[in-house]
Amino acid sequence: MIADYSGAVTKAEPRIESTPTATAESVGGPGLPQERRLLTTIPGPRSVELTARREAAVARGVSTVLPVYVAAAGGGVIVDVDGNSLIDLGAGIAVVSVGNAAERVVDAVQDQVARFTHTCFMVAPYAGYLEVCEALNRLTPGAHAKKTALFNSGAEAVENAVKIARAATGRAAVVVFEHGYHGRTNLTLALTAKNMPYKHSFGPFAPEIYRMPMSYPFRDGGRDGADIAAEVTTKIEKEIGAHNVAAMVIEPVQGEGGFVVPAPGFLPALETFARANGIVLVADEIQTGFARTGTWFACEHEGVIPDLITIAKGLAGGLPLSAVTGRADLMDAPHVGGLGGTYGGNPVACAAALGAIRTIEEQGLLERASQLGETMRTRLTTMAQHFPGIGDVRGRGAMIAVELVKPGTLEPDPAATLAVAKACHAEGVVVLTAGTYSNVLRLLPPLVIPDHLLDEGLTVLEKAFAALA
Ligand SMILES: Cc1ncc(COP(=O)(O)O)c(C=O)c1O
Repeated sequence: MIADYSGAVTKAEPRIESTPTATAESVGGPGLPQERRLLTTIPGPRSVELTARREAAVARGVSTVLPVYVAAAGGGVIVDVDGNSLIDLGAGIAVVSVGNAAERVVDAVQDQVARFTHTCFMVAPYAGYLEVCEALNRLTPGAHAKKTALFNSGAEAVENAVKIARAATGRAAVVVFEHGYHGRTNLTLALTAKNMPYKHSFGPFAPEIYRMPMSYPFRDGGRDGADIAAEVTTKIEKEIGAHNVAAMVIEPVQGEGGFVVPAPGFLPALETFARANGIVLVADEIQTGFARTGTWFACEHEGVIPDLITIAKGLAGGLPLSAVTGRADLMDAPHVGGLGGTYGGNPVACAAALGAIRTIEEQGLLERASQLGETMRTRLTTMAQHFPGIGDVRGRGAMIAVELVKPGTLEPDPAATLAVAKACHAEGVVVLTAGTYSNVLRLLPPLVIPDHLLDEGLTVLEKAFAALA
């Protein structure tokens, strides 16, 4: 049927039947019962049915950790279409830090979506975009003048940080680090270290990217952070020339690389070197930022003040939004019209971000992240005493991981890691893996998860370790 454009309102019949969700819990958010509830095996029959449809319709390159189809989520649970309620220790890869369908996010989005959904900030701007930029200029480390530009995804933010650094310095080279992850676009794949599954068969990659050694205390014998930084800076001077380097891009705690926390002194030494040589220091805080580690940004733990920060994931309570925030002089280096994109800083996503920021501030989620981190670290450290396959427990705030090895060695054990993850999934606990060697089990719960659910999730994890022995 063709709609009536004469001015009269005609209600069109829905064209696509939505997939029925089995549970009464069609409304998510913090009001969902905060319980682990298994009504079927995981995945249940409805999820299995949807997986069959997915196989016919969705490209296989897009993989899935746990094939349960979601009906609702909120607080610390994900409810699937079979009525199972799973404990969420992944937060959609550190995205829904304020919880799924968080009240302030939902309210702000509903209000915005009813007013307008898109105009394109480059065509006709709106105040929500400005408010997000003002908030990020305020919340990021450093008292200097700052500006912000908004984009859609983490990778897009990193790409733009590189563009800004190149425009500001007139230099081409970009320094990155072993085990780093920065996204899946061509430039960010060049910046990313790991081949499978990210880079394999997708080259050639962008040039002028130089990868440097990373401080990885568990694997480098706990070497001094400043010593490794000195090795990095010597390599930069000898192999690239510091005056050719536009930017140094580093995650203060590596995310996909396996929650690698560099030794104290490593990041500050890089900051000093960057300052001395006019190199733009870019902190990729896409996974670590926005309250995840107990501070707004992880570089605050070592008092590092980056020139530019890339922000995404936790920024907008689940809506796609990313940002580059940094020194106003650098941010203004690209010519007018040089930055942007159709959807960047979409008004609905901006409303969500403002809702997420209020939630973090009102609910004290920085402190909560530290508390959750303490609980996880304490429980995992105790587990490590009983399970010799746990080689290391590390992370910051509510970003904690264990690295699994063959007992008594540094030899990675990806098979055990996968087995533990799968055992948790079967018991209704969502955990994620990571690491260059695929041997890191990482925990990134929503910061609003209730204590009893986190405890239960960790007990399930402990049983999964026990089953390995
Ligand atoms: C540190 C870091 N940088 C960049 C990205 C890419 O973000 P996106 O997947 O939104 O493009 C990620 C995603 O995991 C990340 O953790």
